[in-house]
Amino acid sequence: MTNFLSVKDAGNINELISSANNFRINPFSQQSLGRGKRIGLIFLNPSLRTRLSTQIAAQNLGMEPVVFNASQDGWSLEFEEGAIMNGTSVEHIKDAAPILGRYFDILGVRTFPSLKNKEEDYNEYVLNQFVKYSGIPVVSLESATVHPLQSLTDVITINDYLPLQTKMKPKVVLTWAPHVKPLPQCVANSFCEWINAWDKCDFTITHPAGYELDKNFTKGAHVTNSQAQALKDADFVYVKNWSSYRDYGKIEDNDVNWMLTKEKLSPSNNAKIMHCLPVRRNVELSDEVLDSPNSIVTEQASNRVWAAQSVLAQILKDLP
Ligand code: CP
Repeated sequence: MTNFLSVKDAGNINELISSANNFRINPFSQQSLGRGKRIGLIFLNPSLRTRLSTQIAAQNLGMEPVVFNASQDGWSLEFEEGAIMNGTSVEHIKDAAPILGRYFDILGVRTFPSLKNKEEDYNEYVLNQFVKYSGIPVVSLESATVHPLQSLTDVITINDYLPLQTKMKPKVVLTWAPHVKPLPQCVANSFCEWINAWDKCDFTITHPAGYELDKNFTKGAHVTNSQAQALKDADFVYVKNWSSYRDYGKIEDNDVNWMLTKEKLSPSNNAKIMHCLPVRRNVELSDEVLDSPNSIVTEQASNRVWAAQSVLAQILKDLP
């Protein structure tokens, strides 16, 4: 593995899950792999889980992680080719990224979408420049369109429960939820492409009209505007808000009736409840659902360490 930017870089998903499960049993089994190696974790946006879990994963592998809150502490970066830099940007990515490539062996980058320029966001304009100019392996810590470390965590978490399932393929439902502000589509996009690629689930997506995701990510999933129909017999329910892809970055209709409640879950198959966190309580999901034994959000977040560790281990093994 050279970069880890989306499911396309994952190779065999089951092997990554198996590696994550081994690290969960013995976190320090491959300390020698990262000894003498350094990872730079560059955050252009806030984070709790990604920042901490990736640091822990790197340390478990013997690496030294260095976190840089670029948006707060760094010079403001310019990404436009040929820009005349007489405005507020201080440093061009063409100058900054090669230096990061000299300081570090691996680079992690978090860069959210603008939610204004669909073409730039969906071409991963910012992340791809870190890849192009750093010259070292890059791991997405959530980019404009996807969040692969989160999605790997999600399949690891679902996989934990597969032995308890009686169906050949458990029913996994991704449901849109209300929110107070426009959010990226990346967690939803990414979850879709990983569940589709993993191919172990019967996958349904439900959202109000206007929140259709890019078909490149949803592919063969069942899509319905009826949340009630989707939740029937569901084994796993993944709750997430996203803004419109069609009317890019806009809130089309923030229908509060889409909040997930215990009552709505009664036709499900005693579904496990997932969310990437952070979550707006009593907006996206009710307290009753989040605090119920069916909620596996804490387990899910704790699996972030093993997901990151399995990816970093693979990149370390493949370093030139
Ligand atoms: N789920 C997730 O990526 O959490 P953070 O934004 O806190 O890193």
